[in-house]
Amino acid sequence: MDNVAHTLENLHTETRSFRPLASFAAHANATAYEYKKAGVDRLEYWREAAQRLAWKTPFTEILDWSDAPVARWFHDGTLNACDNAVDRHIREGRGDRVAFHFVGEPGDTQTLTYADIHERVQKAANGLASLGVGKGDRVAIYLPQIPEAVVAMLACARVGAIHSVVFGGFSADSLRQRIDDAEAKLVITADGGNRRGSHLALKPLVDDALAGHPEQGPAASVEHVLVVRRTGQDTAWTEGRDLWWHDVVDPQPAEHEPVWVEAEHPLFILYTSGTTGTPKGLWHSTGGYLTGAAQSHRLVFDLKPETDVYWCTADVGWITGHSYIVYGPMINGATQVLYEGTPNTPHEGRWWEIVEEYKVTILYTAPTAIRTFMKWGKAIPQQYDLSSLRLLGSVGEPINPEAWMWYRRVIGGDRCPIVDTWWQTETGSIMISPLPGVTATKPGSAMTPMPGVSIDVVDDAGRPVANGEGGYLVITEPWPSMLRGIWGNRHRYVSTYWNHFDGLYFAGDGAKKDVDGDLWLLGRVDDVMNVSGHRLTTTEIEHSLVSHPWVAEAAVVGASDEVTGQAVVAFVIVRSDAHGVPSEGSEVAAALREHVRRQIGALAKPRTILVVSEVPKTRSGKIMRRLLRDVAENRATGDVTTLADPTVMDAIRGGLEAGRAD
Ligand code: PRX
Repeated sequence: MDNVAHTLENLHTETRSFRPLASFAAHANATAYEYKKAGVDRLEYWREAAQRLAWKTPFTEILDWSDAPVARWFHDGTLNACDNAVDRHIREGRGDRVAFHFVGEPGDTQTLTYADIHERVQKAANGLASLGVGKGDRVAIYLPQIPEAVVAMLACARVGAIHSVVFGGFSADSLRQRIDDAEAKLVITADGGNRRGSHLALKPLVDDALAGHPEQGPAASVEHVLVVRRTGQDTAWTEGRDLWWHDVVDPQPAEHEPVWVEAEHPLFILYTSGTTGTPKGLWHSTGGYLTGAAQSHRLVFDLKPETDVYWCTADVGWITGHSYIVYGPMINGATQVLYEGTPNTPHEGRWWEIVEEYKVTILYTAPTAIRTFMKWGKAIPQQYDLSSLRLLGSVGEPINPEAWMWYRRVIGGDRCPIVDTWWQTETGSIMISPLPGVTATKPGSAMTPMPGVSIDVVDDAGRPVANGEGGYLVITEPWPSMLRGIWGNRHRYVSTYWNHFDGLYFAGDGAKKDVDGDLWLLGRVDDVMNVSGHRLTTTEIEHSLVSHPWVAEAAVVGASDEVTGQAVVAFVIVRSDAHGVPSEGSEVAAALREHVRRQIGALAKPRTILVVSEVPKTRSGKIMRRLLRDVAENRATGDVTTLADPTVMDAIRGGLEAGRAD
């Protein structure tokens, strides 16, 4: 409870509350009746939500919880995710509606209707089938944020294959781990992507990841690599293994009958940091997952598909992109913006220029982006016409009240409701959020559980805390879009999520119920860090650091950071027998930072690396991260009585004053 106690002390008492505007409420998709309906009969509520999907064979059973904690929802029904996201709109006469306004970083654009996507996914599905990819096969997708990423995911779903999207910022090693764990048969990648005006190579990283293939070595499961031409850069080629997307997909017929799958058929695997160092392959079902994604998207974002232009700024490589770019919005027939680039390329007004140009009405982004824009100043967004916006969303980390107010005032013109949405890769869809038009919001609070979702905050013994108190966030009843497990490891699934409190799903977050019972998220209570909304664990970065020949020991903490929420701060002890170690701490830090980038990816690079002579440990040898966080955040050192050697903190502080190696 270290983190919780600390944050609770610092949480200021928020008294502001913003009631929904009557003009918004009058047309909102959600009404208070949703809560009532779900409260009366939760399962019936989910049955109705699931029936909004297109089923090939209707289901008769709602929930089978007999094999708890592995749920089966709607299990005797059959459907196809791609059919729901695409074909259904064609059948119902919506083929001409724009599905995506794609904006490439260099300024290239594409407008893709649902009919265009329909044609592309059918060709891609035939292409996958021609490579022998079928139901249950795993496909790794390692692409930039381009339309082919969406098409590739949907084409996998169409043939019943299970996609495992790996964020393009991950290293070759991280990609290899994920390919190996899922035993992927195919990798879909691109020659490269565009990043801040230059070309970022992707295919060479795939080549590195697959080095050793086709012997018994790494990624021996991979038969082919399908390569989208995006940047046109030169690309090494392994004959027989590597194939161009346009050679395989473009000549295919644009007719493909979807493969109908059972509701519990795995739709995808998505890897996320685990506390033990190896990433966990969380997997989601088809019927339950789609029900949660589509229902929450309709209610939380108040989508009016005929008129709204919706923009979720996440990358499709994260769960937010899966649920709130690909599956939820497409099932609901949304028109979306898909943007390849970063917020400051070619200038710091790029996002607002896009909002103005496409008349974006709904924007969904992360607090770290909002804080970055705050730093750049309100004069930048104020140069653009943002009057089309009518709803703003936030996700990924707690949003501080100052950022919330800035978002509301500067971006939302004081008229747009803000939905602060709490959820996780594991939950598949939004679990806690205000409902726009219904909930009066408090800056910084995610407010209330979604209809049909049962959440509580409990103490160490698993007992619900009273209003005004804090504890651990738990989910007390199964929900349709819950993860079904960790790929190939039931034991790890049970022990990670279900062993902390009997029968309750342990989220790993601290939370507080305020005096009204509304929920405030307080950050992780485990070794997971949240850096710019990206999830990392202390142990994976420590493993990477100690794999460097200079490093004897490493301890990593997430220190609070004004822009990124948390930042990685590493304390390292250099080996006394290591050769060639630079005498300057800053050079050691630079080399180690690069090492972590190569091993895990740029997102894991420590902001600060401090070279120290010792790290604080308990008598049983456990690193006391709480004390290191005190140092990293420039606070007085907390209680040191449980340290094996109480003088160690003085030694660390003394050494740092001698030379801080940021
Ligand atoms: O700590 C919570 C934080 O992000 C974690 C989940 O990370 P990930 O699986 O990568 O999914 C991120 C996008 C859904 C949670 O355990 N988190 C996410 N949303 C919020 C949040 N913390 C506070 N407020 C949020 N709105």
